[in-house]
Amino acid sequence: MSAPAPPKRLYIKTYGCQMNVYDSERMADVLSPLGYGMTDDPANADLVVLNTCHIREKATEKVYSELGKIREMKDARRAEGQTMTIAVAGCVAQAEGEEIMRRQPAVDLVVGPQAYHQLPELIARSHRARGERLSAEFAPEEKFDVLSATRRPTGVTAFLTVQEGCDKFCTFCVVPYTRGGEWSRPAADIEAEARSLAAQGVREITLLGQNVNAYNGANDAGEGLAGLARRLAEIPGVDRIRYTTSHPRDMDDTLIAAHGDLDALMPYLHLPVQSGSDKILKAMNRAHTAESYVRLIEKIRASRADMAISGDFIVGFPGERDSDFEATLQLVRDVNYASAFTFKYSRRPGTPAAAMPGQVAEEVKDERLARLNALLDEQARAFNQSQVGRILPVLFERPGRHEGQLIGRSPYLQAVHAIAPPHMIGQIVPVRIEAAARMSLSGVLAEALTPA
Ligand code: SAH
Ligand code: SF4
Ligand code: F3S
Repeated sequence: MSAPAPPKRLYIKTYGCQMNVYDSERMADVLSPLGYGMTDDPANADLVVLNTCHIREKATEKVYSELGKIREMKDARRAEGQTMTIAVAGCVAQAEGEEIMRRQPAVDLVVGPQAYHQLPELIARSHRARGERLSAEFAPEEKFDVLSATRRPTGVTAFLTVQEGCDKFCTFCVVPYTRGGEWSRPAADIEAEARSLAAQGVREITLLGQNVNAYNGANDAGEGLAGLARRLAEIPGVDRIRYTTSHPRDMDDTLIAAHGDLDALMPYLHLPVQSGSDKILKAMNRAHTAESYVRLIEKIRASRADMAISGDFIVGFPGERDSDFEATLQLVRDVNYASAFTFKYSRRPGTPAAAMPGQVAEEVKDERLARLNALLDEQARAFNQSQVGRILPVLFERPGRHEGQLIGRSPYLQAVHAIAPPHMIGQIVPVRIEAAARMSLSGVLAEALTPA
């Protein structure tokens, strides 16, 4: 018998959205049969994967500066007679593969989001010869067939990709170019993955897609996201279902109705609006107005009164005047957000907005961002504060920083800290909320409050 090969160390750094988080886990899964175990120290890694994001210029530049550091580590390893393979995955890989190899020759291979199932082969090839360093074809179905079979979840919550790609072509955004067209996984495959997750102790599943509510069940029964959620809620152990990210255009009546009667569907919705100015929304090609968005939120709250709403906003889109920005602030007041993500417009080469007149000065963007953040912050604090005194069901996920403490999540996705025994990890337990901070809540087990 020959001795087993020494374990190889894999370091993965993930940027960008939750889709990338999911993909990184799948890459680790597909590499583990080849003997790769995870390390969090890149300097000692045999294989370094950067799973990248192209959404804003800053995100992209981070990747190049990280590659500079990794290159030094590779050189240091080489000096010690060891090797390091550097792979760039994700949306920067898809969007500027050639550019990456030109700017950073230490990169061994570049692999786009639809080609991760080819990683073992690509790595083997790169060990043999340089040259075939780029794989970026769009063939999502094959990717999922290969990647989801070996999945080992690490906690009581898990992401599950159900949809990829985007056909919306918002004029500021690179995603339709980096992730290809909208494509839905077959419902039966998703159900099988969800069953396997539940059997391994997962209680909460977040369905992922660049346009997750455009989910259409692919070649199955053509069910939408609501049908899929109902189907997954039947699986024993799947107690909570979330989904992200949605587009207002695809928020249909069946999904809104499901929020009213499907207990497993959590009352938290991330529904990006981007701007409150109709002129800007039109220039963004968003296909909704400020008013239609606010009406939609009203309809959703009519179905589920306590729905917490979150959103994405861009300030300083080309042509945005003070009055347009004021309209955004007004929309924020009308909706009342529980949380939000805000961005300064970043000019992305190749997107229509990059060539639009009226690019906004950086100082103006900074000033608008600060004002918008102040308002959204105030709303988030008020939302958290409004939970104080309530008893919320909390799914405990992991130990907290303090002795005896666990951290979990409320139905509204707030982090909740409480003193609780470790065996409660994976349980949904009533917690009376006693205090609210900006980012989290703390409370006491409700049963501890009632005398035996
Ligand atoms: N598919 C999702 C997520 C897209 S990316 C959606 O439609 O909501 C996440 C967020 O990044 C977007 O909602 C948008 O607010 C922001 N974003 C995208 N491109 C941007 C750009 N060029 N500049 C600034 N923010 C951008
Ligand atoms: Fe980008 Fe718009 Fe598609 Fe979202 S809907 S991914 S913002 S193009
Ligand atoms: Fe970034 Fe690609 Fe996600 S550009 S936000 S990693 S889809």
